[in-house]
Amino acid sequence: MTTCPTLETERLILRPFTDADFEDYLSMMDSPEVREALRISEEEGRAEAWFGLAAFTGQWKLRGTGLWALDEKSTGNFVGRAGLHNPERHDWPGVEVGWTLHPDYWGLGYATEAGKEAVRYGFQELGQEQLFSTILTDNYRSQAVAKRLGFVLNETRNLSHYPDEPHGIWILEREEYELRFS
Ligand SMILES: CC(C)(COP(=O)(O)OP(=O)(O)OC[C@H]1O[C@@H](n2cnc3c(N)ncnc32)[C@H](O)[C@@H]1OP(=O)(O)O)[C@@H](O)C(=O)NCCC(=O)NCCS
Repeated sequence: MTTCPTLETERLILRPFTDADFEDYLSMMDSPEVREALRISEEEGRAEAWFGLAAFTGQWKLRGTGLWALDEKSTGNFVGRAGLHNPERHDWPGVEVGWTLHPDYWGLGYATEAGKEAVRYGFQELGQEQLFSTILTDNYRSQAVAKRLGFVLNETRNLSHYPDEPHGIWILEREEYELRFS
């Protein structure tokens, strides 16, 4: 099975996570802005963040999908995570493209830049016909990233792993991607 490749965009390196990233990763996941947006509960702390990171990292080996660590080329700083998420859930729509940045790096276009490379990888390397993004209905910044990448809202429904609130299920068809970016 595929391991996580290292890729490059204009301003970012997309690379595999290592255990040495954990404190930077935790600092992002523990920020009030990210906790609020992802509805991370008060009970979830270091241990849950580490298990999450381990699951995303292991997903590369098991499924050929997962998240990249994002480094800013100009400084070498860790700025966030982005990539492809395809967990074993009966009502999961398919291969999802996702993005989370440390709040210090919001407003610079990095999520869209990394998301575009993840979308390219999903279509060109994984051969998907459709990609998805599941986004809570009040997460306007994430919706804006999805729109910039050509995703459209397909439906709104509750997902079994998070039944408390509906998610928008955003979809990008290969044909639309090729029209926009090829
Ligand atoms: C969702 C999230 C990744 C979006 O981050 P973001 O910085 O708003 O998105 P982008 O990186 O695409 O940046 C877009 C902004 O950068 C600006 N920008 C500046 N320079 C830019 C450049 N060179 N290229 C593109 N955009 C640029 C854009 O104008 C836009 O500004 P705006 O916020 O005033 O509209 C971020 O809010 C986040 O991490 N949220 C918490 C986690 C989360 O919700 N994840 C998604 C779950 S579904």
